[in-house]
Amino acid sequence: MKTLLIFIKPYRWPILGILGLTLVGIMFELYIPTLMANVVDIGIVNSDIPYIIKTGIWMILLSLMSIVVAIGGIYLTSKVAAGFARDVRLKLFVKVEGFSLEELDRVGTASLITRTTNDIKQIQEVLSIILGMATRAPLMLVGGIFLAIMMEPKLSLIFIIALPVLVLVIVLIIKKAIPLFSTIQKKTDRLNLVIRESLTGIRVIRAFNQVSHEKKRFDVANEDFRDTAIRVNKIMALLFPFMGIIISFSNVAIVWFGAIQIEQGVLQVGNMMAFLQYALMIFMAFIMLSIAFMMIPRAQASAKRIGEVLQMEATIKDPLKTNGHVNQEGRIQLENVTYRYDGAEKPVIENISFEVEPGQTTAILGSTGAGKTTLIQLILRFYDPVDGRVLVDGIDIRKMSQKKLREKIGYVPQKVSLFTGTIEENIRFGKTDVTKEEIIQALEVAHAIDFVHEKENGIKTMIDQAGSNLSGGQKQRLSIARAIVRNPGFYIFDDSFSALDYKTEARLRQMLKEKLNATIIVVGQRISSIKDANQIIVLDEGKMVGKGTHEFLLETNKVYQEIVYSQSMEGEVS
Ligand code: CTP
Ligand code: MG
Repeated sequence: MKTLLIFIKPYRWPILGILGLTLVGIMFELYIPTLMANVVDIGIVNSDIPYIIKTGIWMILLSLMSIVVAIGGIYLTSKVAAGFARDVRLKLFVKVEGFSLEELDRVGTASLITRTTNDIKQIQEVLSIILGMATRAPLMLVGGIFLAIMMEPKLSLIFIIALPVLVLVIVLIIKKAIPLFSTIQKKTDRLNLVIRESLTGIRVIRAFNQVSHEKKRFDVANEDFRDTAIRVNKIMALLFPFMGIIISFSNVAIVWFGAIQIEQGVLQVGNMMAFLQYALMIFMAFIMLSIAFMMIPRAQASAKRIGEVLQMEATIKDPLKTNGHVNQEGRIQLENVTYRYDGAEKPVIENISFEVEPGQTTAILGSTGAGKTTLIQLILRFYDPVDGRVLVDGIDIRKMSQKKLREKIGYVPQKVSLFTGTIEENIRFGKTDVTKEEIIQALEVAHAIDFVHEKENGIKTMIDQAGSNLSGGQKQRLSIARAIVRNPGFYIFDDSFSALDYKTEARLRQMLKEKLNATIIVVGQRISSIKDANQIIVLDEGKMVGKGTHEFLLETNKVYQEIVYSQSMEGEVS
């Protein structure tokens, strides 16, 4: 909650305005019953028609003015609430963009999306209710009680009984509902997760005939959500009938005792009518307060979830003082690098050391799950090693800014991700200030130019979400072109040729070799893709079990021999 308060600060003037308008509006409203009492007790009793008309006009004017004031208040309130929500959303978005993968892994994408949308919306709603009601209610309560006591101190004794009972009921009910509110938020997360997974994985789900399974999974999450929502609403539904009963009994009591007093001649009819109105206002104020109170826990649950993200510190941060000495050497060194995923028992990368010489190609080979991608992400500083260090151009990467480091690297991730937009825009993602010729060149080197030209709109072809209108190999080549266009000192290809056929791959590799004058790290599973590398690192379950050229490893390394053997069995070695 506290972390969010600072976002309110810029809106202090509009909020003061809301308070001011509320105060004026309340004064108008509180005055009206007194005028009505006068109409009855002075105007009607004395048959003074001009007085009745004059006071009546005043009452109408006051009502109209209180409506105008209320509209102003509502306008300011929505402005503040929507502006506040926008600010928090932006802050949250920027914060999440700065997270390292570790934090993203921890919170989860689905939850981050709910927090940025649903949770903030929740707070926005509550904020506007609080600004609208919670400011009105106390003023109305105090004003109403004050005027009621001033008017009829004896009848006011009824409140001494009615109000505590009302408070007790409200407290009991809300106390039961609060824990359920945070449960609802969690269920929303779950629902979002299931929807997201089943939408992004729709092809796999259909291919494996798992539609009914997914439907069941959704059903469970959906019903779970519904059950909790019903439980909350059942509890909350008790609130208003109980309040209604208390208010009705109080009204009966007021009329009852009022009638007795009128009979005794100590109370006027008009005053009793006004008193009834004040009583109604007091109860209304209580209802408003209880609605506000009811909303606060819901907002608290959301605020907590947002606060959690805002307070999360990215584990990977730029150093305060970056090492200014930057030379374009083109060397990568790993020194005893060990990495363990958050919460995992065993390290996935263990004590790895090797050096990549400038201008040379190093290949990383290993079976799936060996830790190849992890190793590469350590070089990109998506994660920090728990032990050892990574040096790029002789500098520990923790001592340079992440921007500087990544600027040097053209990264082609294993899982291609393209963005909605044209092919050109996607290539430009690699580097914004490139010419069209450079883009065409990059597409040529990446062997993508042919299929791009075949498209009707060439490089202006639109790519759908996640590149769903392209083939796997086409996506891979665009992803390669995106890295090439940066013209970096280093290239990292993480299994980037897996979706290409042999011929295309061989041609592409030849092209890269000729055109790219850079240090290259290439992850591969096929011996054929990596055997020309200057150095091959063989990974097995996170450990380095071999290092050397193809020929050297073929002679000396058992694991390598096995991999070569198994692939030649499949006729894969060219
Ligand atoms: N892993 C994990 N948490 C992650 C990513 C990976 O616990 N966020 C684990 C995986 O379960 C795997 C190991 O880390 O056992 C290594 O994963 P990775 O480096 O991705 O393996 P690769 O060698 O890249 O495997 P592949 O060839 O299939 O890409
Ligand atoms: Mg991998």
